[in-house]
Amino acid sequence: MLDKSPRPAVTVPNDLAAHWMPFTANRAFKKNPRLLAGAKDMHYITIDGRKIIDAAAGMWCCNAGHGRTEIAEAIGKQAAALDYAPPFQFGIPQAFELANRIADLAPAGLDHVFFCNSGSEAADTALKMALAYHQINGQGSRTRLIGRVRGYHGVGFGGTSVGGIVNNRKMFGTLLTGVDHIPATYDREKQAFTKGEPEYGAHFAEELENLVALHGANTIAAVIVEPMAGSTGVIPAPKGYLKRLREITQKHGILLIFDEVITGFGRLGHAFAAERYGVTPDLLTFAKGVTNGAAPMGGVVVRDTIHDAFMSGPEHMVEFTHGYTYSAHPIACAAGLATLDIYRDHKLFEHAKAIEPKWADAVMSLKGLPNVLDIRTVGLTAGIDLAPLPDAAGKRGYSAMEQAFHNTDLMLRIAGDTLALTPPLIISEDQIGEIVDKVGKVIKAVA
Ligand SMILES: Cc1ncc(COP(=O)(O)O)c(C=O)c1O
Repeated sequence: MLDKSPRPAVTVPNDLAAHWMPFTANRAFKKNPRLLAGAKDMHYITIDGRKIIDAAAGMWCCNAGHGRTEIAEAIGKQAAALDYAPPFQFGIPQAFELANRIADLAPAGLDHVFFCNSGSEAADTALKMALAYHQINGQGSRTRLIGRVRGYHGVGFGGTSVGGIVNNRKMFGTLLTGVDHIPATYDREKQAFTKGEPEYGAHFAEELENLVALHGANTIAAVIVEPMAGSTGVIPAPKGYLKRLREITQKHGILLIFDEVITGFGRLGHAFAAERYGVTPDLLTFAKGVTNGAAPMGGVVVRDTIHDAFMSGPEHMVEFTHGYTYSAHPIACAAGLATLDIYRDHKLFEHAKAIEPKWADAVMSLKGLPNVLDIRTVGLTAGIDLAPLPDAAGKRGYSAMEQAFHNTDLMLRIAGDTLALTPPLIISEDQIGEIVDKVGKVIKAVA
């Protein structure tokens, strides 16, 4: 029963009942909260004043590190000059400038940017664009959407439906109809302890041919994949896999969507993972790093031919009946422009690329510690699978996150019993050493 009795002010850490936290073990958190008060560069500051090193870039967002004054100032200036502008039928110059800057970073041919406010909205926007494109193009029978097992595309109905993380779907019934999934690209026996893209696994793309054979190409609108599956615990694409997916989708007139919400803006050492793999999708989603996490923003970068197909009919009519009240919000645009300046001026994508081998070697040195079943690295990310406790899947992982925060001055993320490391791209070699040392301590503490 809900306890409505008077409670002390929220400064008492256990008075946390009203905030139902997202994707959080609420009861465990509220017994032993992890509360943050500040952040600068590679560190968070806890409410009790401890400085903890951020091995997660917040939530894969803060690629340029924390407390960037350029971004804070841009946000403040923008809020004072123009707090809000309607994005339907009106515009602000900054939105056009930011779209140009993002299109310049994206692969050639992807020249149009549609803004929204999150990765979930970006995924749903891309899926709706794919469906609408086929309608406009006289192929309205193409309504199926294909995701991948262990994929994550946010929490909208579209993204949840094409997503492939079982726990994220099972509470929500049938979701969208006409959705299918290709298999995950992970096989521990063949790939364990690989740095970068595994040699084994390009053939997983061939499974798309089986779905085409089953459903008929003329019923399939799009395939959506993350170039590196992040939220499931860091699964890099096998060598040649994405190229093969591109070939198969192209052959059958199926649109290919890369969900680059995590991999965008330098995480894999390039502006987008599409560049790292030399594969150009038809639509590419982004969020998180576009504003360094300082303001909510997401979007879809779209191939010219798709955008142009919409630009028909009477000119006074809306071409794509989709958008959000806060699409291209002035504050997010200001944050985005300031963020892209930092990435460029400090050469952060190049730094991520240059330091990747050191990162991979350092993280791989944790092999052999108790319960470590696999370590995967790619770009500035790593997934470390720990053996689950008998009959308590996820408990060792949760303990590791608690141990890291409370006793080791380290922030990391978990996916079940997998530890996910994704530090800001500003990380130095010394800080890599510090993070790996601390992760080692955590792994031993939860053995
Ligand atoms: C690949 C991918 N797509 C979509 C999302 C959803 O983004 P958001 O939480 O901003 O809605 C995420 C979030 O982690 C993600 O990793």
